[in-house]
Amino acid sequence: MLEVHDVRRVLSTTDPDERPDRPLPEIAFVGRSNVGKSSLLNTLFRRKRLAGTSKTPGKTRSLDYYDVGGGYFVDLPGYGYAAVPDSVRERWGPMMERYLGDNPRLAGVVSLVDGRHDPTRLDRRMVAWLAGEGLPTLVVLTKADKVGRGRRRGRMAESAEQLGLDPDQMVWFSAKTREGRDAIFTALRRLLESSER
Ligand code: GTP
Ligand code: MG
Repeated sequence: MLEVHDVRRVLSTTDPDERPDRPLPEIAFVGRSNVGKSSLLNTLFRRKRLAGTSKTPGKTRSLDYYDVGGGYFVDLPGYGYAAVPDSVRERWGPMMERYLGDNPRLAGVVSLVDGRHDPTRLDRRMVAWLAGEGLPTLVVLTKADKVGRGRRRGRMAESAEQLGLDPDQMVWFSAKTREGRDAIFTALRRLLESSER
């Protein structure tokens, strides 16, 4: 049962084959560097600073596992930011390929896309790859507080089309206003529960 009462980071590693001891289902958070992955996790956990966040891209550099009771939420390093140091960028591909591509514990993925802009080429590649793997995916459009209500529907429809998704698979989210938090939480709880059986 998903429980965010007393969430702890149980493992922080750059080795994609290393896993927490208890074999529980995992939900991974992927997206461009600076898109707001760690901020979403903090909002889900109702904690301000459990997952480190930064204005500067490339903050999360390891696979960070958070114990949420019935499973783990895994905060991942972001992709696609030129300003990220070479050492981090070069490690990203092989690390993600191994973690996402060869992980029987992976129950699903939250794919974050900046809601202000069109999805990037790498966003499209990631979403297509997840679909090809048949991994349950929830696409979260971030920074909703910066997109006026009047623009929301059109932006979501455009992003959905560019990603080849149904808008039903997407949800707006803001770490600033917490809009979308409960809908995402409920979707992830269902995902974890269905993978426990
Ligand atoms: P990496 O760890 O570098 O991959 O980035 P990340 O995806 O974990 O992003 P992070 O959560 O560190 O957020 C990046 C920046 O965006 C920070 O300055 C956050 O405060 C800001 N940010 C994140 N979510 C939101 C949001 O919903 N609204 C606004 N206005 N800013 C946000
Ligand atoms: Mg981060």
